[in-house]
Amino acid sequence: MSIIFVDLGNRGYQIHIGQNLLAGLMDQLDHFSFRKQAALITTPPVAEHYLETVTTQFDDTWQFCSYEVPDGEQSKSSDTAEKIYTWLIEKQFERNSLIISLGGGVVGDLAGFVAATYLRGINLIHLPTSLLAQVDSSVGGKVGINHPLGKNLIGAFYQPKLVVCDVSVLKTLPDVEYICGLGEVIKYGIIAGGSLFHLISQKLDAIFARKMDILTDIVQQCIQIKTDIVMQDEYEQNIRAYLNLGHTFAHALEKYYRFGELKHGQAVLFGIRCAIQVARDMRMISTDGFEQIDNLIQRFNLSLPGNINLDTDALIEIMFRDKKVKDGRINLVLPAGPGEIRICPVDDLSLLEDAFNSIQ
Ligand SMILES: NC(=O)c1ccc[n+]([C@@H]2O[C@H](COP(=O)([O-])OP(=O)(O)OC[C@H]3O[C@@H](n4cnc5c(N)ncnc54)[C@H](O)[C@@H]3O)[C@@H](O)[C@H]2O)c1
Ligand SMILES: [Zn+2]
Repeated sequence: MSIIFVDLGNRGYQIHIGQNLLAGLMDQLDHFSFRKQAALITTPPVAEHYLETVTTQFDDTWQFCSYEVPDGEQSKSSDTAEKIYTWLIEKQFERNSLIISLGGGVVGDLAGFVAATYLRGINLIHLPTSLLAQVDSSVGGKVGINHPLGKNLIGAFYQPKLVVCDVSVLKTLPDVEYICGLGEVIKYGIIAGGSLFHLISQKLDAIFARKMDILTDIVQQCIQIKTDIVMQDEYEQNIRAYLNLGHTFAHALEKYYRFGELKHGQAVLFGIRCAIQVARDMRMISTDGFEQIDNLIQRFNLSLPGNINLDTDALIEIMFRDKKVKDGRINLVLPAGPGEIRICPVDDLSLLEDAFNSIQ
């Protein structure tokens, strides 16, 4: 097992990464002085595989209960949060009690939001089970729910007390969710450049085959990159924005497809392809840098859903409504090559149009 320490002063915590870690959760809990009252929040597909492994570790000295929310993004709602608050109040949860999220980013964001707000904050432990949750959403303390008018509009920065990243659970992750997680992995590879980028490029087939040793190494390196960034910029004032590489395009594509057929991680891969196109048109990235990244993305054999021509005007309009637009200008996170990230305003809208045209 490897341990990464997220050093955020009195909000610091450890992230444990390795194989078959869920079965040893209680050994880790023994290091804390939580009230022995735990509420686990999960979703049926995850519960089916892993709930028992966790549940059986809580003996009679604990008051342990679990809550399954319906699978899917719609559970990140104020409705679901309120149901969980009611359940916690009825079970008389106190400030020193514990909430455990067991699941993907949806469960992590929701359980985290409830933990941040119930009694103004109670202890939180993340047990992320999707690749995206392991490398991205469980690290850094962003928690939140959706509003009918937009995704992730209601939320907080709230750090957990511990994250346990058991890479073995990725074996049961559906293929499409696995590819989505890889979208974020590629993002880290480009942000970090150097050895991580080359490792991903060289071992992509083993990664596609979910070879556990290489996957554990990759997950650990991605978490390290996110942790380093979060430690420097917890509240996204500056360099945490690098993590949005490909995301302004991705969010536009997700909205364009009405959060239907195109999932976030897939949209991120298209978004990164758009970003390198803009970087090339702006002569920011070398031909070699462009090709290295492009070749990697090509190996995913992605195609946009449906047989439609993208309406680039509509997409650009959506981009202007993104919450990251400042003073009416679209600021993009662009790679000048693997390991070299810049944030630039892009005023020439034909660059955006070319970028969207390059992915269809
Ligand atoms: N907080 C952050 O910093 C942050 C960052 C990125 C994304 N997010 C949020 O994360 C969410 C997406 O997370 P996600 O991609 O994990 O989606 P998700 O939570 O819906 O999980 C994807 C699917 O995989 C299933 N699943 C998860 N782990 C499994 C396993 N080990 N075996 C079998 N099935 C498993 C889930 O039940 C679900 O059906 C979005 O709501 C997004 O806004 C948050
Ligand atoms: Zn993302």
